[in-house]
Amino acid sequence: MEKIAVIGSGTMGSGIAQTAAANGFPVVLKDISAEVVEKGIKKIEKNLQREVEKQKIKDDQKKEILNRIDSTFELEKIIDSDIIIEAVSENLKIKKSLFKELDKAVNPECIIVSNTSALSITELAASTTRPDKIMGMHFFNPVPQMKLVELIKAFTTSENTYKKIEKFSQAINKKAVLVEEAPGFVVNRILIPMINEAVFILDEGRAEAENIDKAVQLGANHPIGPLKLADLIGLDVCLSIMETLYSEFSDPKYRPAPLLRKMVRSGKLGRKTKSGFYDYN
Ligand SMILES: NC(=O)c1ccc[n+]([C@@H]2O[C@H](COP(=O)([O-])OP(=O)(O)OC[C@H]3O[C@@H](n4cnc5c(N)ncnc54)[C@H](O)[C@@H]3O)[C@@H](O)[C@H]2O)c1
Repeated sequence: MEKIAVIGSGTMGSGIAQTAAANGFPVVLKDISAEVVEKGIKKIEKNLQREVEKQKIKDDQKKEILNRIDSTFELEKIIDSDIIIEAVSENLKIKKSLFKELDKAVNPECIIVSNTSALSITELAASTTRPDKIMGMHFFNPVPQMKLVELIKAFTTSENTYKKIEKFSQAINKKAVLVEEAPGFVVNRILIPMINEAVFILDEGRAEAENIDKAVQLGANHPIGPLKLADLIGLDVCLSIMETLYSEFSDPKYRPAPLLRKMVRSGKLGRKTKSGFYDYN
């Protein structure tokens, strides 16, 4: 069984590590410090405990899954990985410098995939000496529940790399959809501009947050309204995807809503800061 490393133990990284471990893979979860990675592990424990309470898994299974996850803040512990899944903050500079660092340190056969929401996989691949072994593997939030994974080929990704990642996606029980490199891939190119439009409607005072969400939920049969979904995704992540779409296509239809930018600047990032379009305190 392949050795998996997940870098970034936030919303997505913790969910990805949990999913891989729940499907039998040994996982090392890495973040910038012992304190931060510990928070990620706590989040996984809490999620698994909820599954025990809902009788979806047994207490023994919870322990087995947790035992498969090791945590670290040191690069040393992940150098022999077969697949590394990068899930750090949505910032091209941070991701590129991490890819460079990983490329130098880890096993030359290791495949490195990024969970980026919209950034160019080809640009990440070009920052390494193994551009054929780099791909996008875009999971959805919450990872243990969401069935889809978008598999994004960089311009340079080899067929062999794609096949291995497709096989890994099946092994962790996800339905894979292949996307050729494109900003926002498929889902976020549709979903995030819809959220952005909901923020414009709110900012223009056309309807209240609850009513915007109710309208879309009941009128378009969505399981959750766009503003609630934005709080779940993280407003910083939504803004960063809009900025990528805007700069990549140079099309004003992708301009970020000013209210979205103001909320991010004021630290209202949604559920993760307990405050966004709704209050979670
Ligand atoms: N939130 C979502 O719904 C969602 C969905 C799909 C994809 N994504 C993408 O997943 C990635 C992570 O998003 P998130 O919501 O989990 O973010 P997050 O802010 O919850 O977590 C990011 C984590 O990365 C860590 N980190 C930053 N730089 C690092 C480095 N150099 N080395 C190790 N760790 C580092 C941070 O300490 C933090 O714990 C982003 O690229 C985002 O666009 C997010």
